[in-house]
Amino acid sequence: MIIKGNIIHTKKLGELSIVNNGHLVLDNEGTITGIYDTLPQQYHRETVCDYGDKLILQSFADMHVHAPQYAMLGMGMDMPLLQWLETYTFPTESRFADLEYARKIYAQLAKDLIDNGTTRVVMFSSLHTDATLILMEALECAGVSGYVGKVNMDRNGGENLQETTSESKSETLRWLEGCKKFKQVKPIITPRFTPSCTDELMQWLGDVAKEKNLYVQSHMSENLAEMQWVKELHPDCDQYWQTYEKYGLWKDHTVMAHCVHVDETERKAMADHNVLVAHSPDSNVNLSSGIAPIRQMINEGVWVALATDMAGGADVSW
Ligand code: GUN
Ligand code: FE
Repeated sequence: MIIKGNIIHTKKLGELSIVNNGHLVLDNEGTITGIYDTLPQQYHRETVCDYGDKLILQSFADMHVHAPQYAMLGMGMDMPLLQWLETYTFPTESRFADLEYARKIYAQLAKDLIDNGTTRVVMFSSLHTDATLILMEALECAGVSGYVGKVNMDRNGGENLQETTSESKSETLRWLEGCKKFKQVKPIITPRFTPSCTDELMQWLGDVAKEKNLYVQSHMSENLAEMQWVKELHPDCDQYWQTYEKYGLWKDHTVMAHCVHVDETERKAMADHNVLVAHSPDSNVNLSSGIAPIRQMINEGVWVALATDMAGGADVSW
């Protein structure tokens, strides 16, 4: 297939390429094989989809997004992180024990994502195994690819959003079995954040990630009260990142959401281990978390990608 229009793309950070009236050539699998000012002779017999003066851009990839929080989109922005989680977020997520509700919300979410141009995600579900599988199916049917995690939380979730340690382990294994039927949507190990997981669970998740060669996602250094809490829970660790490193969760391609309050030592730990920061500016402002030192991260060689953190962020990307 060949698409014609004004093609805007960037091969690397700091480099923007604009091809006016250009041609984008795709092979039969939909992989881009070339971008041309003038269409080479060999393609002249193929059909061209001409979009005239329109812009042709890549789609959005949302590197950190909470699927069940779609149900509270744009609401409850009057509290900082820990109170916000307890007051609005955990009660909202607990509703996904109801699979009819999960089916309804996740079908809408998948449609909203694809309609607004998000084709790839790195996503948190809730702790519910069956609702997570429903979510993955809805994404795959809609054409959204990426990574989805059943959330692990065996402490500090309150009455309605908590598993025992052994439930968390057995449900994670059941979920990983269920994921085998998906092609474009893959599992990612997801301890919610250090306060949500006991040391035993963290160690087990680190072992599973290693054994099964899975990526990891979590949250880090989003809010000062959260960081103080983590210090109390892990007095042996000087910094938050070490509470993940201790259990083998701080590794190549681990996605850490937020990282608002990080110093030079933590940024070096990220760069040294290829840990990627999912930067969610909308959420960081909505929850008054702070301003992340993104320019410094980029200058120091830390991988940074953009994310909504919906529903800390108030919408899907558009
Ligand atoms: N930290 C732990 N859980 C969450 C969550 O759901 N949203 C945000 N923004 N931070 C978190
Ligand atoms: Fe988040």
